[in-house]
Amino acid sequence: MNASPLQPAQGQGQREGQTLYGGNTNRRVTVRDIAAAKQRGEKWAMLTAYDALTAGVFDEAGIPVLLVGDSAGNCHLGYETTVPVTMDQMVMLSAAVVRGTRRALVIGDMPFGSYQESPAQAMHNAARLMKEAGVGAIKLEGGERSARSIELLVEAGIPVMAHIGLTPQSVHAFGGYPVQGRGDEAAHQLLRDAKAVQQAGAFAVVLEAVPAELAAQVTEQLAIPTVGIGAGAGTDAQVLVWTDMAGMTAGRVPKFVKQYANLRAVLGDAAREFAAEVGAGTFPAPEHTFK
Ligand code: KIV
Repeated sequence: MNASPLQPAQGQGQREGQTLYGGNTNRRVTVRDIAAAKQRGEKWAMLTAYDALTAGVFDEAGIPVLLVGDSAGNCHLGYETTVPVTMDQMVMLSAAVVRGTRRALVIGDMPFGSYQESPAQAMHNAARLMKEAGVGAIKLEGGERSARSIELLVEAGIPVMAHIGLTPQSVHAFGGYPVQGRGDEAAHQLLRDAKAVQQAGAFAVVLEAVPAELAAQVTEQLAIPTVGIGAGAGTDAQVLVWTDMAGMTAGRVPKFVKQYANLRAVLGDAAREFAAEVGAGTFPAPEHTFK
């Protein structure tokens, strides 16, 4: 089994006093910077992104890590779950996010069916995300069950973020999106999964929908950073789906989401005002008209 190759060597992480995104460098954030942030105890934010325009906004806002999540399925492409998302779609969306950003580490998500068959299948498809989309790392779901694939990818030089707890690609097996890790046996399994992905060489692990106390315990026991979503305040980093975070999502959002804006209302109002002005003949006005 691999030890993590990501421990920042002396002088190779960012300089003292620098934050993960900030400082006087203008290169992309790397997995080595992320390892250094854990050592400094710096907490960081990750957002999903699915297109160049939105990703550019987040990059300029100083979000150090952008995940092209397969949540694109239900948050961007109009599917009910992440299950139908294909590799071709993930390559296309990931390439757009890479093109739209300058500094953020872009992580491409491996969709359902693109890695579960074998480590060789995982290698083939992860290489597509690296070569065709230009991402700096990939993410895949699963703990012990994905360890052999993680190991192979890391050996091949592909940084891997793991994802355990509630793994949305298993929605049909879970019968929904229930909180994971409740009860002794489930908590022990979560710890085993976390240790297995670290041992396999993952540079970070997403903990989704797990009790806060358990997530904090996992975080304490790992050398790699934990990225929480619905996992309380005790993880090293936090991730939200951008459409949830910005209030673009229609209807109810999960309990763990905080909406920092109401973009759905802002955009709807803008569209209604545009249509009203066109109807009234007040748009275009003289200042929008060529002479
Ligand atoms: O697909 C996704 O957006 C994710 C995050 C919620 C972690 O997996």
